[in-house]
Amino acid sequence: MIMASRHSWFMHALVSVALWPCKAQHSFKLPMNRVQRGQANAFGNAFSSLAPVSQVKEFAYTVNITIGAETLEHIVDTGSSDLWTVSNKCTDTDCQSVRKYQYLSSSLVPSHDPFKLNYLSGSVSGDINFETITIGSYEVSHQVFALANKTENLSLSTTGNSGIMGLCFAPSASIPPTTGNTLMDNLFSSLPEDKRYFAIKLGRDSVNDSSSSLTFGEIDTDYARSIDDFAFTPVSKDGTTDYNFWKIPLRSLTVDAATLDLSPSLVPGAKSPIAVLDTGTTLVLGPTIDVDAFWGMAGPSGSARKNPISGFWEVHCNRSIAAGFVLGDKGAEREYFVHPRDLSWKDGGQANGWCLGGVQANDGVNSGDWLLGDTFLRNVYTIHHGATSTEPPKIGLLNLTDPSKADSEFRAERGIESSSHSPNALPVHNRLTQAATDSITSYIASSICGFMGGAVLTTLFRARALVMAKGRRV
Ligand SMILES: *[C@@H]1O[C@H](CO)[C@@H](O)[C@H](O)[C@H]1NC(C)=O
Ligand SMILES: *[C@@H]1O[C@H](CO)[C@@H](O)[C@H](O)[C@H]1NC(C)=O
Ligand SMILES: *[C@@H]1O[C@H](CO)[C@@H](O)[C@H](O)[C@H]1NC(C)=O
Ligand SMILES: *[C@@H]1O[C@H](CO)[C@@H](O)[C@H](O)[C@H]1NC(C)=O
Ligand SMILES: *[C@@H]1O[C@H](CO)[C@@H](O)[C@H](O)[C@H]1NC(C)=O
Ligand SMILES: *[C@@H]1O[C@H](CO)[C@@H](O)[C@H](O)[C@H]1NC(C)=O
Repeated sequence: MIMASRHSWFMHALVSVALWPCKAQHSFKLPMNRVQRGQANAFGNAFSSLAPVSQVKEFAYTVNITIGAETLEHIVDTGSSDLWTVSNKCTDTDCQSVRKYQYLSSSLVPSHDPFKLNYLSGSVSGDINFETITIGSYEVSHQVFALANKTENLSLSTTGNSGIMGLCFAPSASIPPTTGNTLMDNLFSSLPEDKRYFAIKLGRDSVNDSSSSLTFGEIDTDYARSIDDFAFTPVSKDGTTDYNFWKIPLRSLTVDAATLDLSPSLVPGAKSPIAVLDTGTTLVLGPTIDVDAFWGMAGPSGSARKNPISGFWEVHCNRSIAAGFVLGDKGAEREYFVHPRDLSWKDGGQANGWCLGGVQANDGVNSGDWLLGDTFLRNVYTIHHGATSTEPPKIGLLNLTDPSKADSEFRAERGIESSSHSPNALPVHNRLTQAATDSITSYIASSICGFMGGAVLTTLFRARALVMAKGRRV
């Protein structure tokens, strides 16, 4: 539990945001790297001959930010709201060999208040501090952030990032708002109302893909001509009293132009399923009933299967799926196509002609009904617009994947799935006990979502018990 600082009003007053004058003239794009987050092996090698896609790789997107005098790489996470960095006081194996904050700056102001953030299968803790943060062309003085002296199960040493930069709403932060505004709020409040946003494009193709883009207060003209190109939807407040996540209605999915209607939302008051946009989650995660129906449509004739050992949906690496996500308010919804490469996701894991499916089941998503992670987000250019005096916060989406072009690219790279009805070749695995099923569930929750997804999961995990008690979707 974090206690609010008595000096909070004073701390607020000290924050100032400056735009570096030399860089203000031209568009400033923050270089963003796509890095592999180490390998997760579901059940050890003993199962590998039975569980073809047992090596599941995750990726994350990182940017450099300068904290005081030190530049450190941070994962960009639109599904959490705190900024934290490991300090040289962290001696755990988990944080070994990553660059750490060395206390080189005289502008650091410690608060001595403790910080702790629990993820589903890991945690980070330390204390709360204030420091000058430079991100791209912006310099925020006296920004509240946490220095971590302990991290557990976060695999920092394999990913190489020194911390996480959360870019979500303040109610989702662990550092209490009375201590200081989030980095996002401080950046937004320094911008004129019509530029109070950040825009993200995630690269697909390879590690260190230079086609990723993150900009504050302006769009990257490589991907859009103007802000008018985007379709905007107000951020949903369903299930909460204040804006907590970047979430909007997901009306349906489409497969080969056929519509897949979704099961009713579990979010109190929501008229349609709610999707949370989250760069910190690798995959698209949704309710089992809908995800199973999706793969039923997307993988006919045995070209998709739910691996009973890992619990993951897998699909032939040569199966080109034409699928879309229909997002937005009723009457203003739009369909966003997903590249077949993100659905038959070779990078995520492959074996014997099977690739990891880019959409997976997870009934523990309680920040909304669906988590739209990187396998969806790579297909859109997204504006995250803060509230203005006249409008609530809103999400702008611009479609970047042309389905017919994507299909030709996929076929040129992977070949074409034959229409023959090949039987599902997975051996029946009778050792799959209830205990194994339990570990599958926790593996999916903890490893597929990664720790950022875990943050989202943990935040509302308590709410899940209530939902289940009402006897709704199980
Ligand atoms: C961060 O800076 C380091 C050192 O200059 C560089 O090697 C790395 O590629 C940068 N990362 C990003 C995401 O720009
Ligand atoms: C870290 O992972 C291990 C093994 O999965 C688990 O036993 C432990 O409880 C985890 N620690 C935290 C803080 O979640
Ligand atoms: C980490 O920081 C917290 C909060 O200041 C402190 O209570 C704890 O003893 C520190 N732990 C280590 C290992 O330095
Ligand atoms: C990606 O960048 C990192 C750090 O900048 C570097 O160590 C690594 O070799 C690069 N990987 C590729 C495939 O270029
Ligand atoms: C597609 O992949 C599956 C699984 O590896 C294989 O059985 C099938 O022959 C492939 N189809 C074509 C046309 O290559
Ligand atoms: C995006 O959608 C618009 C409107 O449907 C369409 O004209 C445009 O071609 C699409 N862009 C891509 C890259 O497919």
